[in-house]
Amino acid sequence: LSASRSGDSSPSGDAVPLDTGDLNRQSFPKGFLFGTATSAYQVEGETHQDGRGPSIWDAFVKIPGKIANNATAEITVDQYHRYKEDVDLMQNLNFDAYRFSISWSRIFPEGTGKINWNGVAYYNRLIDYLIQKGITPYANLYHYDLPLALEQKYQGLLSKQVVDDFADYAEFCFKTFGDRVKNWMTFNEPRVVAALAAVQRYRQNYQEKQKGRIGILLDFVWFEPLTSSKADNDAAQRARDFHVGWFIHPIVYGEYPNTMQNIVKERLPNFTEEEVKMVKGSIDFVGINQYTTYFMSDPKISTTPKDLGYQQDWNVTFNFAKNGTPIGPRAHSEWLYNVPWGMYKALMYIKERYSNPTMILSENGMDDPGNITLTQGQNDTTRIKYYRDYLAQLKKAVDDGANLTGYFAWSLLDNFEWLSGYTSRFGIVYVDYKDLKRYPKMSALWFKQLLKRDQK
Ligand code: NOJ
Repeated sequence: LSASRSGDSSPSGDAVPLDTGDLNRQSFPKGFLFGTATSAYQVEGETHQDGRGPSIWDAFVKIPGKIANNATAEITVDQYHRYKEDVDLMQNLNFDAYRFSISWSRIFPEGTGKINWNGVAYYNRLIDYLIQKGITPYANLYHYDLPLALEQKYQGLLSKQVVDDFADYAEFCFKTFGDRVKNWMTFNEPRVVAALAAVQRYRQNYQEKQKGRIGILLDFVWFEPLTSSKADNDAAQRARDFHVGWFIHPIVYGEYPNTMQNIVKERLPNFTEEEVKMVKGSIDFVGINQYTTYFMSDPKISTTPKDLGYQQDWNVTFNFAKNGTPIGPRAHSEWLYNVPWGMYKALMYIKERYSNPTMILSENGMDDPGNITLTQGQNDTTRIKYYRDYLAQLKKAVDDGANLTGYFAWSLLDNFEWLSGYTSRFGIVYVDYKDLKRYPKMSALWFKQLLKRDQK
């Protein structure tokens, strides 16, 4: 593996900017974990083989024009067969943990009922190998890949019946893998009740025995008011409430945020008393996916350059610049601006508004275009800067009392980036899609340096 080379020279032979500044393991609290994150559909491949049933994504990618270059994830980076190589890489780069997701339709090809034991065996192999290599598994049960059969049966996540199927699937995973997996995540961007039905099963049947913890993952763009006007402050607050308050507010306070109640009114489902009991206080940690920040304003005052589809309920305008100056340098993805200070504000917001729950930073990273060469890909100094600046802000939040216990970079490898297919590379390891060889980028070596264990 290229990661095993000396580590202090870049692919082109120049000195690598491995300087991690003031940051090293000791800058973070004892026991703070560093990992990388992926999701099943984005990295596994082998979507039609070995007994796996189709997910909604297998159907979606077949619709011409939906995915850049009509790409599919049938092979993607083939982690299904190359997991050992990938885990070796993690170990070599000094990471402590791996956040992966379990593919529901690999375990239950039809979403419920018949079990695919080949799929079970795969996750057993992956988990065992992670543990053998000293990497702590963080398993997420749902990362957008609903079994297609459930979508066809009852319109998937819109139905309440899916809650029971999800809880059964989750319970199967707790029972089967929970002796080794102690950190569970239910949903990447959850539908609260479905996620929490699974939490209830874990709490009732497994938590005490297996001594693990369970949480959810929230996507959290920081929304900063464009100006200091009350109207823009209110707009930013509405955006935060709709974006993360929707999920975390019920968990901490047993109800949706006021702003949402006032705007969405009867379209917002009421929690039954039983649901309130189930929802309140129902997680052990919150995972936060934090990538970027936007300026928010009141639509009466300025208009958005592009309708992002949020205007109706949120009633806000998104701004990527202020007085003509961009909010930060843009990555390859249109939505991704490098704004490290937003990381600090987002974490402090959760700390202050939601009584400082245990948090993990479950995703953070930036992408380059898909068509760059290996040499260009490996010389990712912009990504090093991104990680260095974001981690410095994360540390500042920790120093100011935010209760964070871990950090995961998105992603270990370049992989299938949903609608963008392979035109976006988020990895700290470059993948050559011709032969699927893995090449650590400079950012990977930077992490290796940051995470050296023998530092005093
Ligand atoms: C959000 C998602 O969880 C992940 O699947 C995606 O690839 C990254 N962020 C980057 O867009």
